[in-house]
Amino acid sequence: MTTDVTHETQDAQDTPELSGTPTANPALLDWVRRTARLTQPDRVVWCDGSQEEFDRLTARMVATGTLIPLNPSKRPGSFLARSAPGDVARVEHRTFIASRRREDAGPTNNWREPDALREELDGVFTGSMRGRTMYVVPFSMGPVGGPLSLLGVQVTDSPYAVVSMRTMTRMGNEALAAITEGTAWVPGVHSVGMPLVDDLGRTRPDVAWPCNDLKHVAHFPETREIWSFGSGYGGNALLGKKCLALRIASAVAREEGWLAEHMLLVKVTSPQQRVFHLAAAFPSACGKTNLAMMRPALPGWRVETIGDDIAWMRPGPDGRLRAINPEAGFFGVAPGTGWSTNPTAMEMLREDVIFTNVALTDDGDVWWEGMTEEAPAHLTDWRGNPWTPDSPTPAAHPNARFTVAAARCPSLAAEFDDPEGVPVDAILFGGRRRTTAPLVAQAGDWSQGVFAGASISSERTAAAEGAVGELRHDPFAMLPFTGYHVGDHLSHWLSMRDRVEHLPAVFSVNWFRRGEDGRFLWPGFGENARVLEWICGRLEGTAAARHTPAGLVPAPGALDVDGLDVSPADLAELLSVDAAAWLAEADQLERFFAPFGAKLPAEVRDHLALLRYRLDPP
Ligand code: GDP
Ligand code: PGA
Ligand code: MN
Ligand code: MN
Repeated sequence: MTTDVTHETQDAQDTPELSGTPTANPALLDWVRRTARLTQPDRVVWCDGSQEEFDRLTARMVATGTLIPLNPSKRPGSFLARSAPGDVARVEHRTFIASRRREDAGPTNNWREPDALREELDGVFTGSMRGRTMYVVPFSMGPVGGPLSLLGVQVTDSPYAVVSMRTMTRMGNEALAAITEGTAWVPGVHSVGMPLVDDLGRTRPDVAWPCNDLKHVAHFPETREIWSFGSGYGGNALLGKKCLALRIASAVAREEGWLAEHMLLVKVTSPQQRVFHLAAAFPSACGKTNLAMMRPALPGWRVETIGDDIAWMRPGPDGRLRAINPEAGFFGVAPGTGWSTNPTAMEMLREDVIFTNVALTDDGDVWWEGMTEEAPAHLTDWRGNPWTPDSPTPAAHPNARFTVAAARCPSLAAEFDDPEGVPVDAILFGGRRRTTAPLVAQAGDWSQGVFAGASISSERTAAAEGAVGELRHDPFAMLPFTGYHVGDHLSHWLSMRDRVEHLPAVFSVNWFRRGEDGRFLWPGFGENARVLEWICGRLEGTAAARHTPAGLVPAPGALDVDGLDVSPADLAELLSVDAAAWLAEADQLERFFAPFGAKLPAEVRDHLALLRYRLDPP
């Protein structure tokens, strides 16, 4: 950490955090002191992660209007937060990677020169916590002290961020105790950017969801620091998640020879009691949480949840890739979650949940599109306005979220807490594609698998600002999350061949293919178990496949569609690889890869050429 904070607006004796600090770590104390001098909060509170602390903070947020307590007979221990209407998603155009050299950030990140960005941040953070409390939030990503885990400390002026971090990470005294002198930890400074006292000392009243139109989500991968300003939304404000566990960790992982990826992690058990561990990378709002909590429609199959968003995978002593979920909770998309699609999540959401931007029912419960087939006759929508089924806008924001502890998940695997992780048997890559991409295809080998990961493209969703539905390339579902050059990311993936003796098999999947009439061709959700069955069959060497230019797809009859309401024509389309569409895909990929320049691995270029050759042999 090399932050130089020169603003001496308060002298050391006045900095309130000096009394009662629960750590003797001088580097940590010094950083907290300097951050408090910069941001000038009224007081500094060290968080212990206790239930009393959670209760105190939620009670305070109820008093200030940030949280609405839900009806305890409907949704015990649960709250609703309504964000400001402009603070509902990740802000990718304000997300910065500040590496010394521009080429280390690459063409897909917003690069900023570190010194210039520091100066800008010093400006916006000066006095940004005036009139507020600065909370010091120590946390561990992964089990505290585990060999795959990393420690961090977030300071924040948002009690909403504090209680969410308590759910999403191992937060509090245990993590703090692990941050002893000389231990590495990642510092993160977060401010909603709405001080309650201005430069002239005038106070202003607080609002239910403080934030700032100006936003910065800044990362310094070389010094391993995070600075986030202006937003309270989870993806921008819970710094353990996207900022640390993906952007910073991906850079650390590259240096250290492991992978930090945007992946769910599940344990799959076959009717014959064979166990497989699968990791799957899909872009935001493309089905990770649903697959992670799937209730298989095929009898005898079982899916247990290890993670739904992030996997850290390291070469293990057994020659396998071993993965953990570094998080401790789930920050999931509410709309579309219902008893018919994701009953496990519905059970998980029965109590102790913080909902953000869902609708409120008249009896103090929550509702969102897709929870039930029919909407209640009257609701209060996510903006706090009356709503009826005739209203022109959705009742819940399309990126409305739930925040809930992993322990509440009824399908949580026993391995969830295993600090050594699970061995990964297969990796799945997917996106939201109405055309072109088949239901499932297996890569011939690791390098074709890396090509498949590099080739993911997907229709944009409401999880980030931007035009929903627009197709964009999203290599490894990491476009907004890789903390270094995207071409180096591909090379790093290729290099795992030299580090891992028994590499996972790689598959591409697409649950979102549509017919000309716009309907989904594949029923998805629990029925995706049929695809998992074929994948596990491939791992066992029992499932038949046929070659296509896009990889191995199920041979006729190899996919179990017994009792499924999918017409033979739709099934054929789902498993088809259309040459014209794929040639167009190859052209788009070539354009996407062009700015990678010399950093595009030759092998990936070769796979693109091979794809063209197979589609259109000379
Ligand atoms: P995540 O953000 O990647 O974790 O995605 P989610 O699992 O939260 O799903 C995002 C949206 O996609 C939700 O509205 C889901 O209902 C929907 N979804 C998830 N899986 C499927 C599927 O298999 N088929 C279809 N049609 N929609 C799905
Ligand atoms: P998601 O997580 O992948 O579940 O949508 C949040 C995000 O990626 O913004
Ligand atoms: Mn995500
Ligand atoms: Mn999710």
